[in-house]
Amino acid sequence: MSLDFNNSASITDEAIQALNAELKTQSPRQILKFAFDHFDHIAISFSGAEDVALIELAHRLTNNLQVFSLDTGRLHPETYQFIDTVRQHFKIDIELMSPNAEKLEQFVKQKGLFSFYEDGHKECCSVRKVEPLKRKLKQLNAWVSGQRKDQSPSTRSSVNVIEIDHNNSNDTRKLIKFNPLANWSSKEVWDYLRISETPVNKLHNRGYISIGCEPCTRSVLPNQHEREGRWWWEEETQKECGLHISK
Ligand code: ADX
Ligand code: SF4
Repeated sequence: MSLDFNNSASITDEAIQALNAELKTQSPRQILKFAFDHFDHIAISFSGAEDVALIELAHRLTNNLQVFSLDTGRLHPETYQFIDTVRQHFKIDIELMSPNAEKLEQFVKQKGLFSFYEDGHKECCSVRKVEPLKRKLKQLNAWVSGQRKDQSPSTRSSVNVIEIDHNNSNDTRKLIKFNPLANWSSKEVWDYLRISETPVNKLHNRGYISIGCEPCTRSVLPNQHEREGRWWWEEETQKECGLHISK
């Protein structure tokens, strides 16, 4: 059966792998163009960091650009300011997804505001990031993330440019995930941001490379890997918050 994005039975791992083999040699711009040509209900998941490159690339390719950010309530003030700067610079709406109020109140009541330093980040990320993401993804047929292989040798070295998000799919509805920057290096992203004169998060001027929530992110020293600034009290292999589990 040939791949037809309107027919969920035809969206198999084999078909997507074959498409990935074609797309992975293409540029992020070409991958995004393919994505917008094939999906109407598609949105960029924007963290407020260097993944602004996706918005710079995408706003030239579609008049129907949809962008959302997961507002964990714990982002740096600079990141909130940057999200607003991006909104104004590109003249786009950015949907801020908040955690479920009841679940968040219950979690903070039981565990306080810094439980992640004691028993790991999974529970807090689940309430503040993963549940709001899942809620948003129910409205979409495809989503776009800024994941790259070089962001984390222990967890992202095999990221594909297109995949089935199995975590958010079922037999009748397959959700497609694009990672157009998967094969770009950090240098390529930053060269592109400079050449295109795209605004960037002010935290990058202060030694932050990878940016997540304020209590779970710190700047890194020269030659430290960017991922060492995230959840630094945990093992390398644990440094995923659940947004990008697709198997
Ligand atoms: S994380 O899973 O460790 O937090 P990371 O910061 O590397 O992710 O960002 C990789 C991609 O995940 C981003 O480019 C973006 O697509 C998505 N992402 C991460 N955090 C958020 C957020 N708060 N809101 C929206 N998307 C996010
Ligand atoms: Fe909570 Fe830290 Fe995860 Fe943000 S990154 S949701 S503060 S554990």
